[in-house]
Amino acid sequence: MDNKIKATLIKSDKNNIWHPFTQMADWINDDPCTPLIIDKAKGVYLYDIDGKKYIDGVASLWVNLLGHRNSKIDKAIKKQIDKVSHTTFLGLTHIQAIRLSEKLLSILPNNFKKIFYSDNGSTAVEVALKMAYQYWQFKNEKRTSFLSLKNAYHGDTIGAVSVGGMDLFHSKFKSLLFKNYFAKSPYCYRCTYRKKEINYPIKAKNFKDHNIQMNCLGECIKQVKDILTQNHKNIAAAIIEPLNQAASNMIIMPKGYLKEYATLCKQYGVLLICDEVATGFGRTGKMFAIEHENIKPDFMCLSKGITGGYIPLAVTAVTNNIYNAFLGKYEEFKTFFHGHSYTANPLACAAGNEVIDILKHNNFFIKLQTKIKHFEKELALLSNHDNVGNIRHCGVMAGIEIVEDKKTGKSYNPKLKIGAKICNKLRQHGIILRNLSDTIVLFLPLTITNKEITKIIKALNIELNKL
Ligand SMILES: Cc1ncc(COP(=O)(O)O)c(C=O)c1O
Repeated sequence: MDNKIKATLIKSDKNNIWHPFTQMADWINDDPCTPLIIDKAKGVYLYDIDGKKYIDGVASLWVNLLGHRNSKIDKAIKKQIDKVSHTTFLGLTHIQAIRLSEKLLSILPNNFKKIFYSDNGSTAVEVALKMAYQYWQFKNEKRTSFLSLKNAYHGDTIGAVSVGGMDLFHSKFKSLLFKNYFAKSPYCYRCTYRKKEINYPIKAKNFKDHNIQMNCLGECIKQVKDILTQNHKNIAAAIIEPLNQAASNMIIMPKGYLKEYATLCKQYGVLLICDEVATGFGRTGKMFAIEHENIKPDFMCLSKGITGGYIPLAVTAVTNNIYNAFLGKYEEFKTFFHGHSYTANPLACAAGNEVIDILKHNNFFIKLQTKIKHFEKELALLSNHDNVGNIRHCGVMAGIEIVEDKKTGKSYNPKLKIGAKICNKLRQHGIILRNLSDTIVLFLPLTITNKEITKIIKALNIELNKL
């Protein structure tokens, strides 16, 4: 593109736009880089306005599932545009939403019987929290609090922030938030147990050491149990991101943690909300993360990949136990008074229908396993690097935690912006990744090839060697 036009566009962006999760003082000063303007995309590649292509290694913030401009999804949306692009879902319905609910219920565990639509991950969570809260009113029990984990991220609306456990994002809003109990995050790499083991030889490779994992699990689950023992009568629901606290530097839970958490909720009669906004639709190697530990929650929150990353859509799936509690005569006002203007947008539902058809097709998940194995093998190549403290991965998601001192796990001074700088350098290799502090996040579209995975790891290796 002509440099003058490009400069005008960038100037206009800087003059008029406030970007999310962005320090705008850095953005307007081109720190660490001049804004990149994306013009188009195809498959796993994004193209900037100069035609340079980049692998979309974070799946456009964890939404893109089957590549950009996927011909089948494109076709489904275009076909729906010729019928109707949007109509209200309050008092009306439409074919795409009806079909999508059938398909979703056919792939969710069979305890789920109803689909409530909204339009983003935060609202899917908000809906579940409000439903759980209202459910207990019908049971004449005063349960006004929730249980979640430190380091949890469930979105940016006030309910979702109340159960969020990331101090950096959430502590500023403390006085606005409702009461919540927080249990420890199963962050094995940095858990108390590990800190006590001063002489423990830290293995960067996947940090799969069984003893450490089991001690972390035991310590963390004990706290969940203690909180539930003392407070279960006040707790409407417990919420968890199954297997991966993705927004908190990709904290992968030790095997068995999720099952124990779910079992405790059942035991203490506390409803369970599984937030699979990030992990749903194949990212863990199975359709849903909860399938790895075979649990049956009361609520499932879904969004992001549900439309292949094309159009906002979200779902809160519930059991009949929850749904039936809201049934009653009109004048009893047991109605769930919640809904959004773009609820169940038909274009989004058309995309969702196509996505599920593709995922259910023949060998999709078998082929995905081969890709995940390749990804694991490639990630392991980075583990001996002096500044790689810990590599965490699950399915096509991974976090590479960069540290100043591998022996002690000491982090870099945040002023140095190491993570951001590495991601910026990767653009020169034609790769878009995003850091969470000093953890480099890889969140791959399921259609990425082994060759493209190798390209990302090679580029990362080159940049890590320059530290
Ligand atoms: C687990 C989880 N829940 C909820 C959300 C919020 O989704 P949204 O950004 O669509 O509101 C996110 C976003 O990253 C997430 O990872």
